[in-house]
Amino acid sequence: PTVAVLAGGLSHERDISLRSGRRLSAALREQGLTVEEWDTDAGLLGRLRDERPDAAVVALHGGEGENGSVQTILEMLKVPYVGTSSQGCRRAWDKPTAKAMLAKAGFATPDWIVLPASTFRELGAQGVLDAIVDHLGLPLMLKPDEGGSALGTQVVREAAELPAAMIGCFAYGDTVLAERFIDGVEVAVAVVERDGGPQALPAVEIVPESGVYDYTARYTAGLTDFFTPARLPEDTATAVGELAVAAHRLLGLRDISRTDAIVAGDGTVQFLEVASSPGLTETSTVPMAIEASGASLGAVFTDLVSRAIK
Ligand code: DAL
Repeated sequence: PTVAVLAGGLSHERDISLRSGRRLSAALREQGLTVEEWDTDAGLLGRLRDERPDAAVVALHGGEGENGSVQTILEMLKVPYVGTSSQGCRRAWDKPTAKAMLAKAGFATPDWIVLPASTFRELGAQGVLDAIVDHLGLPLMLKPDEGGSALGTQVVREAAELPAAMIGCFAYGDTVLAERFIDGVEVAVAVVERDGGPQALPAVEIVPESGVYDYTARYTAGLTDFFTPARLPEDTATAVGELAVAAHRLLGLRDISRTDAIVAGDGTVQFLEVASSPGLTETSTVPMAIEASGASLGAVFTDLVSRAIK
């Protein structure tokens, strides 16, 4: 079959997606598939309609590639594809929605407040800043409510850092998610769908040299240490796997996903967010987890392509 790997795109994560797409395409070719690498742009709909690949694999990150837009196009044209449906993407993409759904199902997630830009008009800047600190205490995390690769995400340790951090978030969208800071062990847990249903792969423990897993620490080789499987007690390792499978199911994710969580000092597992189209670069955690499970990136995605076409 001819497989179109959709990468690039127009989001802030374009470069990362091109890296994921290149690596994935090479891995699929090694498995004998005919792969075309498509740099995804506004011409996607016409190109899909004209060329009709047997399947597409979404290796886009952020923006229209992860918010359900590209998936809607694939669904409209009935092109089979690997990756989460448009509906699942919409739920997963909005971090507060994902947190609320997991919290409702009984999973722990750091306390949070959602701050649309309109809150500033209503309360004034000082009012908003006071409300955030009163509610969450310090330090706290600020994130754009949508987005990936930690772009715009910041740890705020002092109230005086809040205004600049807010502006940093608003550069990526008009709603900010403020979250209580949890000190603990950061883990990423991949879930892959197989015949028996979604299965968690070994958790990857993330230890950034700087202490903060930001964009640079994510994508510069050597700046972060990874431990696979994560150095967790057995029951905690089981709990993070269960959380990831639950998140995959509850949010309606498909084929492959990654759940990010923190194991707090008291051992509780705190849900942070999910990636419906997780990074597949040399420093991304999903390929590490796949290898640790004894499989290969190419074999896993070849299987997902077969499932999509079936
Ligand atoms: N958004 C990046 C690519 C990730 O979640 O891996």
